[in-house]
This record gives sequence, structure tokens and C-alpha cells, in this order.
Amino acid sequence: MEYELATRVAKLRPSGIRKVMALAAAREAKGLRTYHLEVGQPDFPTPTAITEALKERLSDMPGYTPNLGMPSLRSRVAALVQSKTDIKTAADQIGITTGAVNALAMSILATISPGDEVLVPDPGWPNYESAITLAGGIPVPYRLDPRKEFLIDLNDLETRITHRTRMLMINFPGNPTGGVADAEHLKAISRIADRHNLLILSDEIYSDFVFEGGHTSMREIHDPAKTIIVSGVSKTYAMTGWRIGWLIAEPEIVAAVGALAEPLTSCPCTASQISAELALDLDQSDLDVMRETFRRRASIASDILNEAGLLMTVPKGAFYVMADISRTGLDSDVYVARLLDDTGVAAAPGSTFGQTTRQQIRFSIATSDADVREACTLFVKHVNTLAGANP
Ligand SMILES: Cc1ncc(COP(=O)(O)O)c(C=O)c1O
Repeated sequence: MEYELATRVAKLRPSGIRKVMALAAAREAKGLRTYHLEVGQPDFPTPTAITEALKERLSDMPGYTPNLGMPSLRSRVAALVQSKTDIKTAADQIGITTGAVNALAMSILATISPGDEVLVPDPGWPNYESAITLAGGIPVPYRLDPRKEFLIDLNDLETRITHRTRMLMINFPGNPTGGVADAEHLKAISRIADRHNLLILSDEIYSDFVFEGGHTSMREIHDPAKTIIVSGVSKTYAMTGWRIGWLIAEPEIVAAVGALAEPLTSCPCTASQISAELALDLDQSDLDVMRETFRRRASIASDILNEAGLLMTVPKGAFYVMADISRTGLDSDVYVARLLDDTGVAAAPGSTFGQTTRQQIRFSIATSDADVREACTLFVKHVNTLAGANP
């Protein structure tokens, strides 16, 4: 190649989920039966109320919006946050971004300087590590405890803090764990952050999928001046492809994200911002149907895996279930390729989420009840065959 790529590119780890997606797509292209439990996107269509209303607006589409999004959408999100948390929230505390992933990356770019350490969950969504690395920061994994429903091992967390630690990232309901933190757990986390003067970045993209009781936001627990919340429409409204997310933070942080948006995105896609505003104005009862569907599938998968002694923990939210593959003796990267080849079941390797889950795999249950049932049954047989317990 004539040009050398920038050094930062070499530091990015390829996503293990994308690798399985490509293998699964290649298998399907050959006409082979494939069960898609690898990807984390709702299997519901975007509500037609949104797509139909958008059609009417297409001929009169405005151009660029301000860097931080349409003022009307920022106000609408502020009102939503205020109504859910009972904490006064103004439009200048909201920044609209190209998906939650961009809100996370820009929040990190706005607050983390080279050499700063950032605490990330293990297991956790791999994009956290990439965004921190891009900012020149150092991701430092802390442990989630599978014996305690994948809540944070608070002792382990505190031992990871050094004089260079600047931020603590948390994610409840969690990907890949399905873990949900209650107010008590969030308070304990908040106390640790206070003791060490850390910013908390709380990824709450799955907050509408808590199966029992409601979601408690870190914004209700920790000093809002030291908290950044990230969320968006991707999961809640089955709008992953529309790419609209947001951050909720102090106006100075939001303004810094706006300055970063200028060279990175200019602004989020205007048609998608209009669609997100339509989504927030929808009758929210569709959401209850989605939540109940994910709860039911989580219980189908948990029952099958639990009976076989392969369930890590019963998920309390989001749409993921973690399974144990230690019986096979294989690393999850190798195992998911074999599972796909032998049975057609596509799952995400635990290794992509951290070191503690190298012998686990993640099922996304955002597929039909029947596929969840069949895929989990095929998986159990496969593990036992490999382990020699059921030759
Ligand atoms: C934990 C977590 N945060 C953020 C995102 C990104 O959401 P978005 O589609 O809004 O970028 C995902 C998507 O899979 C996720 O699992």
C-alpha cells in the first residue's frame, strides 16, 4: 500500500459479533437453515405510524440541522427525561447524535485526555474499549459477578482505581448480561465514584426493557453534574438503522460534544431526527408488547439452558442470555464457529465482551419464540456431544 494507516487504526479490535454475522450470512446465502441469535437488534419492524408520517414530510425535508440536533427534538427528549426521572432537565442538557454509539464516543472524546484511565465492565459491549482507545485513554476492565446476576463486584471495582482514573462506565440493563441494577446497587456505585471524584457515564440504551419493576436511571442517584447518560431510539422503537441517539449531561459537556460533531458528523441525519420525534410522540403501548415479548423469550431460553446446567443467570432486562460452554473446553471464538457449522445456530462469542467470558456465549433473543426454543435445544445437544456427556 502506498500510504501507511494511522497508528490508532491498528489498535481497534475487530468485533467478534460482526465476524459471526458474516459467517451466518454466508451460510444462509447457500440456502442452509440459520438461526440468528448473534445480533442485538429487535426483530420488530419500525412502527408504520412513523414510516407513514415520514413519507408525508419527505417533499419538504429541511437541510442540515444544528450540530446538536433539532431544537424541537432536544426539548422533546428533555421533557421525556424529566418526566421519567423527576429531575429538571433542559434542552441545553441534551445532545442528539448519530446513534447512542456516537453519543458514547463523543462523550468520551469530550472528557477523556490521552493517558486517562476509564473503568469498563467485563463483560461489556466492546465499543466502549474502542471509543476510549480512539480518545487516547486506557480502558480498565472491572468485573461483573455472574453469581450475583452480573452486578458489579464492588470490591474488584475499587481495586482498579488509580490516580489516573477519570471515568466509570456502567451499563444497566446490560449487554451482554441482561443484568439490571436497582437503586441500592446504583447508590453503592455512586459512593465509590464520589470517593474518587469520577465522572459516571451510564449507557441506558436498554432502559425500556426491564422485565419487572421499572428502570432506575443513574441520573436519579448520582450528582447530575458528574453524570452523563446515553440512550436513543434504536432498541426502544426498533429503529437501529435510523441512527438516532442522545446524551444527557451538563451544558458544558453537551456543548463540547457539539463542537466535536462539527468535523465528525456535522449533525445527525435530518429525516431520522424527524422520525425520532415521531417515535417519542407515539402511543407507547407498543413498547409494552415488545418488553413482554423479550421477557417471554428470556424465560424460554433460561428454562432450557437452566435444565441443562448451562445458564449463567436469568436475565432481568435487555434481550440477551449468557450460556456456559466450559464443558467443551473450547474458547468461545472457536466454539461459535463450530456451533454455526454443526447446527446453524449463530451466537456471539463471550470473548468479544471481555476476558471473564471467554468460555461463555451470548444469545440475542430478538428472534421468534420458535427459533429461540429450537436454537437453545440444538445448543444444549451440541455442548453435551462435544463434552462427551451425550455421545
Ligand atoms: C450496550 C449498547 N450501547 C449502545 C448501543 C448502540 O446503540 P445505537 O444503535 O443507538 O448506536 C448498543 C447496540 O448494540 C448496545 O448494545
